[in-house]
Amino acid sequence: MVELGRALRARGYDFVTVTPETHARVLEREARPARDLRDVFGWSRPFAEDLLPDELLRLARAANVIRRDAGLFRSEVRFSSLGPHLYVHSAFPTLALDSVFFGPDTYRFAAFVARSLGPCRCLVDVGCGAGAGGLSAAAFARRVVLADISPRALRLAAVNAALAGIEAELVESDVLAAVSGPVDAVIANPPYLRDSASRVYRDGGGRYGEGLSLRILRESLARLEPGGRIALYTGTAIVGGQDRFRELAQKLCRDAGASFDYTELDPDVFGGELAERAYAEVERIAAVGVVAVLPG
Ligand SMILES: C[S@@+](CC[C@H](N)C(=O)[O-])C[C@H]1O[C@@H](n2cnc3c(N)ncnc32)[C@H](O)[C@@H]1O
Repeated sequence: MVELGRALRARGYDFVTVTPETHARVLEREARPARDLRDVFGWSRPFAEDLLPDELLRLARAANVIRRDAGLFRSEVRFSSLGPHLYVHSAFPTLALDSVFFGPDTYRFAAFVARSLGPCRCLVDVGCGAGAGGLSAAAFARRVVLADISPRALRLAAVNAALAGIEAELVESDVLAAVSGPVDAVIANPPYLRDSASRVYRDGGGRYGEGLSLRILRESLARLEPGGRIALYTGTAIVGGQDRFRELAQKLCRDAGASFDYTELDPDVFGGELAERAYAEVERIAAVGVVAVLPG
């Protein structure tokens, strides 16, 4: 898979992953087989075998990522660009329970982390998915740990670390439970929605999906070294103008003696979710960033 990524990069491949709604619209506009590499490894369109150059077909077969689909073939992975690197993640649509996420939130998360972190000894990306957050912030840290509860995410994160030429430890972990040693920086873009299909990359638990974000904040504050920092990117359901997540997150930081900086990064994400019964009272979902720093 690493070789496949390298070969794509050598051919100048790049692709920006859009929301599932935009992706579906682009495909619906013109139902057709792939015409180029971006169609195959970005848009997840079906392709005829002779479309791929021999080298790429061989590498894709060796990586076991292509499947037959109604007389054509289809890639089970996508490759997306972020900064100088390519990241492999699950193909569209991400219906499987263990799909490996990468999307517009990943771009916002990486930008938020880049302006919220400083030099640190050990950086842990909790719920790393394909690893883009931790890998794009790797220059800040001496030790980089990519942690996720999903073995499949960790397999792809390992490929992405190798593709980026970055040394990172891969740890299968429920939040920080299996991460060893002192930690002075935690970053996370966890699931923050109520997902009726209970997909692990999407379902945050709690009333509106805030459960895991609050848990990450609480457990990180308890675990971080003095002077340690958490940069949490997440979503919050706004009900009647009130942001309950903000109140709870602020209380956790106050109780731990940590500073609390809260920024609304996008006032309206995942608007389609508001049609779900669980969100009947919710007026919008905002993407937010929390930065908390413990006293040194
Ligand atoms: C929305 S995805 C984000 C992935 C990545 N951080 C990004 O920005 O692209 C959330 C990730 O959190 C992981 N996750 C869910 N519950 C977790 C838990 N209890 N501990 C660690 N990781 C978890 C999922 O497997 C998934 O990879």
